Amino acid sequence: MVPREFRLSPLGARVFCVIGGIKMDVLKRLTELKDEARTRLQAASSEEDLEKVRVDFLGREGLLTGILRGIGSLPVEQRADVGSLGNRVKGDVESQLEEARDRVRAGQRDQQLRGEGIDVTAPGRAMPMGRYHPLMQTLDEVLEVFVAMGYAVARGPEVESEWHNFTGLNLPADHPARDMQDSFYVTDELVLRTQTSPIQLRYMQRFAPRLPVRIVGPGRVYRRGDDDVSHSPVFHQCEALLVDRNVTFGHLRGTLMDFARRLFGDEVEVRFRPSYFPFTEPSAEVDVSCTACGGRGCSTCSGSGFLEILGAGMVHPQVLKNGGYDPEEVSGFAFGMGIERLAMLKFGIGDIRYLYENDVRFLQQV
Ligand code: PHE
Repeated sequence: MVPREFRLSPLGARVFCVIGGIKMDVLKRLTELKDEARTRLQAASSEEDLEKVRVDFLGREGLLTGILRGIGSLPVEQRADVGSLGNRVKGDVESQLEEARDRVRAGQRDQQLRGEGIDVTAPGRAMPMGRYHPLMQTLDEVLEVFVAMGYAVARGPEVESEWHNFTGLNLPADHPARDMQDSFYVTDELVLRTQTSPIQLRYMQRFAPRLPVRIVGPGRVYRRGDDDVSHSPVFHQCEALLVDRNVTFGHLRGTLMDFARRLFGDEVEVRFRPSYFPFTEPSAEVDVSCTACGGRGCSTCSGSGFLEILGAGMVHPQVLKNGGYDPEEVSGFAFGMGIERLAMLKFGIGDIRYLYENDVRFLQQV
């Protein structure tokens, strides 16, 4: 018979198949391939090794694939034997490949876990702890005192209408007191609020004629120009407003004495000095005995023994009206304080700028 030739695969040697003889050769070759595959899989130590074995044996151009594809060209009576052994070998190589893959992966996982091992006896690394900023500590303390007295906390926008910041608080456009608070204008009608007093006005407008009004309004305020040891163009204030029937200056005084004692201690002395604010009448500035020297006189209080902590007064009838209340029916008091100033007194800070620099060496001390 004429010998027939077929390719096992491009990777394999050409095998000349002789009828009768060829069957043996191909079957032998299949068994060899199975052993070869096993040996290579046992030696494989990475996914790349495995992939190479797969391609070499089972890939489109693979050794086994070549044989299986060549079955059609074998004499009919040989096809069944070659086919069944071929498929068995193929299944065998596939399952060995699977096993080898599990083994390689488990090995990799082991290695990874060993690398990530945690030494529970290693000394810890200290995490630097953040802490509450002295300004916010002070503000919290102030708010706590008032919340305990039944005040609610109200807020307002930092970009404020010119009307709420000035006109509605009794400071018409040409009012000289506007110069006291040099402002940042955003547009002709919008300013960065120069004080927290617009919070009063907004609150009254929103809730009039409900009584009583009893709020504290903390927030950031902006003033142009000032920038030195005791002034910053951005700082914090806290406003308070109480409106009800028959509120008197005596109530204001009592409230402020109580507040000062809770904040600075029972020994503190409180002093009222007449003053002027366009939105209160009468108005006062409130001093407490110097927290540094107790009133004897020192550099903190410039020898006076007292420190100014806030502005206060009875709400001007016009402002009550602007807020939607009838000044014939109700009266109220208001006051406003600078939080930076309180924080500086409380912690003995000599320069306001320390409060904004966020130098941890400073922050860790307070
Ligand atoms: N708004 C005033 C200021 O910034 C403080 C103040 C508030 C005075 C309320 C009286 C009443 O100086």
